[in-house]
Amino acid sequence: MTSSLKNLIHDDIRYRKSYEVFLENTSEHQCMRDFIHGTLPGILTSVVDGKSHLNVIGVGSGAGEVDLEILSELRLRHPGVTVDYEVVEPNSKQLQNFKALVSQTPGLDHIKFTWNQMTASEFEEQWKVKKMTKKFDFIHMIQMLYYVKDPGAVISFFQSLLDNNGKLIIIHLSDNSGWAKMLQTFRDQLPITDMSMTATTKDIKSILDSKGVSYQSYELSNQLDITECFTEGNERGELLLDFVTQVRDFNKTASPELKAGVLEYLRHPDCSVESNGKVMINEDIGLIVVGQLT
Ligand SMILES: C[S@@+](CC[C@H](N)C(=O)[O-])C[C@H]1O[C@@H](n2cnc3c(N)ncnc32)[C@H](O)[C@@H]1O
Repeated sequence: MTSSLKNLIHDDIRYRKSYEVFLENTSEHQCMRDFIHGTLPGILTSVVDGKSHLNVIGVGSGAGEVDLEILSELRLRHPGVTVDYEVVEPNSKQLQNFKALVSQTPGLDHIKFTWNQMTASEFEEQWKVKKMTKKFDFIHMIQMLYYVKDPGAVISFFQSLLDNNGKLIIIHLSDNSGWAKMLQTFRDQLPITDMSMTATTKDIKSILDSKGVSYQSYELSNQLDITECFTEGNERGELLLDFVTQVRDFNKTASPELKAGVLEYLRHPDCSVESNGKVMINEDIGLIVVGQLT
C-alpha cells in the first residue's frame, strides 16, 4: 500500500462531494427505483403480513434518497402501517442531509426516525451494552458493506435482529462489474486493505453459503459514465476518480505510475466500453434478500 494515499471515507465532506458527482454519472439510483417499484412490493407484502406497525433499519443510509423511496413505496402499498425507523450512518454530512430531506418531504408523519451517527459495528456494540431486545421487520444495507472490516459479522448481527417474516436486503457491486475488477487489480496499492472494498456479491454469497444461510438474489444491470476522469484538471472528473478509487485527492497524491495504471485499466475493454465519446464502466449491481435466522 502507498502510505501517502488517504482513504476517501475518512473525509466526510470530500466523500459527500465525490458521491454527489458519482450519483449524477451513474444510473444506480434509477436502477434501485426500478427495483423498489418492481420487485420490492412483493417482498414488503410478505414482511407486512397483516401488521399495522413495522420496525425498520437503514444501515449506511447516506443522505436517505433511497430510504425515502422505499418508505414511499411502503406507504403506497400499505397505507395504514406506521414505522419506527433507525438510521445508522457515521458520516455527519450525510446524516445532516438526510434530516434536511425528511424535513422537506411531506407525508412522513407516520414514521418516527431515530438518528444514530455511528458505524454498523458501533451500533451493534451499543445494542449489546444496552441489552436491547427489539426485533425488526425490514433492514437494508445498500452499497455500504465495502466499508466494514468483516461483512459476515455485520450481516449476522443484523440478521439476528429480524422478527418473524423479517427481511434483510443487501445491495452490492456484482462480480462481473468492471469497477470491482479495477479495485481488485490495484488492491495492494490503494489504501483499502483494512476494508472489504474489493468484495463483490460473489463474496457475500460465499459468506452466506458458509453459514448455511439461504437467500434469494437478483442482478440489476447498471453503468457509470467515467468520461470526465480522463480530462486533466476537470474538477468533477477528479471528484469522480476519488470515488472510483476511494482515495482522497487521487489525482494529486497518487504516483504518476499508479495514476497512469488506473486510468489505463479503467479504459480497458475488461472494465469499460467506449461509444459516442463516452467511457462507460460496467457497474452491475446484485441484490440479496435474507430471511430470519433459523
Ligand atoms: C456508497 S454510500 C451509499 C449510501 C446510500 N445507502 C445510497 O445507496 O445512496 C455508503 C454509505 O455507507 C456509510 N458507511 C461507511 N462506513 C460505514 C459503516 N462502517 N457502517 C455503516 N455505514 C457506513 C457511508 O458514510 C455512506 O453514507
